[in-house]
Amino acid sequence: MLTDELQKKLAKRIDGKLLEKEREKKSEKDGFNKNKVMDEVFDKSTTMTVSGLKNSGTISYLNGAMGSGKESKTYWAVSPSGKDLALKIYLVATSNFKKRHPYLLGDKRFTKLRKGTRHLVELWAQKEFANLSHCFDSKIPCVRPITVIKNVLVMDFMGKNGVPEPILVETEVDYKDYERAISIIDDLYNKAKIVHADFSEYNIFKTEKGLVVFDFGSAVESRHPNALDFLERDIKNITKFFVKRGLTVTNPVDVIKRIMK
Ligand SMILES: Nc1ncnc2c1ncn2[C@@H]1O[C@H](COP(=O)(O)OP(=O)(O)OP(=O)(O)O)[C@@H](O)[C@H]1O
Ligand SMILES: [Mg+2]
Repeated sequence: MLTDELQKKLAKRIDGKLLEKEREKKSEKDGFNKNKVMDEVFDKSTTMTVSGLKNSGTISYLNGAMGSGKESKTYWAVSPSGKDLALKIYLVATSNFKKRHPYLLGDKRFTKLRKGTRHLVELWAQKEFANLSHCFDSKIPCVRPITVIKNVLVMDFMGKNGVPEPILVETEVDYKDYERAISIIDDLYNKAKIVHADFSEYNIFKTEKGLVVFDFGSAVESRHPNALDFLERDIKNITKFFVKRGLTVTNPVDVIKRIMK
């Protein structure tokens, strides 16, 4: 487990990065930054990390990729006892860093940059692990984390035979789902003292047993200076989704007030 001090250090470094990411997201919406990431998940170090997971008996083999976002790729893996696992591999060569690559390669002054980038990516993976562990321990319905090694996060697999559970956007939804989603945001904030900060129909599984949240890389502690902005955005985003699906729901402003009370 991470020590308090490491947690704080992580939070500090990553929160700055998060704001940067926010700004980049905005500029992307404006039409810039459209370069797609190349498949560079398995660089040498990541290959070694995955081998390490095999040698230590955490996984016995890796199956296909399930999801590939901008910052990560998620794989289905199987444990030696036959249990399905999910491996989220954070990309070291993200589009943003990749874009700078041509300018930096071969420049002796920047030989340290690669290490720095890798370190930051590892911090992201560790931050997601720490957030998940904390939420799981706080009884939030989230994916159970197993371990994190460098840029590789190992979790319980949500689904069957390598097929992930459907995410909310892929399912029919009703008012109960809306209420449940809002109550998860409420519990995250008031019980776990966490704001997800990327809470959306894409980061919630809809299982037979109910909704299960995942993708906690962006989450921040509720005392983070931007926590309330993120909370507000989470509530507005998920409300928008349910409204789009034709549901009549509570005004998000009232929900925000109630949760923040
Ligand atoms: N524990 C899991 N079990 C089964 N499938 C999973 C699990 N975690 C993630 N997935 C699958 O991988 C997809 C992407 O996962 P996730 O949302 O964590 O990453 P992302 O959005 O690509 O990453 P980022 O937000 O860092 O760009 C999910 O939509 C889901 O289909
Ligand atoms: Mg996601």
